Amino acid sequence: MKIIGTGSSHPKKVVTNQMLSDMVDTSDEWITVRTGIKERRIISEENLEDLAIDAARKALDNAGISAIDLDFIICANVVNEFITPALSCIIQGAIGAHCPCIDLNGACVGFIYALDLAEAYYRSGKVKNVLIVCAEEPSRMLSWQDRSVCVLFGDGAGAAVLTAGDNVKATHLSAASSTTSLYQKHELQPSPFVTKPNSNLPLVMRGQDVFKFAANASLADIKFLLNETGYTADDVDKYLLHQANIRIIETVGEVLKQPKEKFPTNIQKYGNTSSASIPILLDELNRGGELKKGDLLALSAFGAGFVSGSCLLKW
Ligand code: ACO
Repeated sequence: MKIIGTGSSHPKKVVTNQMLSDMVDTSDEWITVRTGIKERRIISEENLEDLAIDAARKALDNAGISAIDLDFIICANVVNEFITPALSCIIQGAIGAHCPCIDLNGACVGFIYALDLAEAYYRSGKVKNVLIVCAEEPSRMLSWQDRSVCVLFGDGAGAAVLTAGDNVKATHLSAASSTTSLYQKHELQPSPFVTKPNSNLPLVMRGQDVFKFAANASLADIKFLLNETGYTADDVDKYLLHQANIRIIETVGEVLKQPKEKFPTNIQKYGNTSSASIPILLDELNRGGELKKGDLLALSAFGAGFVSGSCLLKW
């Protein structure tokens, strides 16, 4: 398969580090030095589906195909207003597609899990055109009183349209179960039968555990792909890493002995938008004319689960 169109969409509300330092005991300096983030977009009046639909339409437009030509829609999402129906079904109706669709919770690795799933459909010969939409609102999950979490995340959506081709050289996924380092539990409806504790707590993250997992997993995944395909780290033109923390991205670059210019970032503007992070970055590079036909791109993401994944593709 190959990517033939990209799109992205952001909430209107810009929340700066300064605004957060007026709410919790933090500072622009702490957030900038520890994470690289300067501001993020947070949903206020919009719904996440509005962003998802907007990103999907832009990607279709960029690809030059119509929604009725789609054979499958995969939506990567952790949480949104609806528990059911699936966000992909809402997108399908809004854009006027008639194909089957599915939601996938791959946390921050959702885009790469979706690419891997799509590839299996291509290999089975079931599809020609596939739409992947990654739409996330971590602001629905976190506490604005918890400075260790609220400074890190932002909301947004990114999308990509795929068609048949041989540009995706390899994908690699991994999972290592951990329910204590990064998690949030659903709240139960009031029930006369349930006797176990009910959880109504925001997202919990042990940042240092996640940091160590993230840097190690990203390096291992990229090395696995290089090994499998025979490419070297020098052959890769751009590394598109999950935009969670600039220090994780720098660590990976240093270990791979690759220059900073090969690691484009937009974490400064958007923070960590979970699975939307890589497709948003890809869309910015695509529309900014920064990707040349034939460029070798290495994508790598990591997130709650723990899960991680990487993909090597020719643009
Ligand atoms: N402002 C000021 N001080 C803070 C803040 C804040 N926002 N948050 C924490 N601190 C304090 C801590 O309380 C601690 O204080 P203490 O020394 O008095 O105890 C001090 O800063 C250092 O805290 P650490 O947790 O050691 O800071 P660290 O350098 O590890 O940075 C961070 C924390 C940014 C969260 C880092 O660990 C990180 O980025 N981890 C990875 C997170 C990540 O990538 N998550 C997303 C991946 S998964 C997904 O995307 C869903």
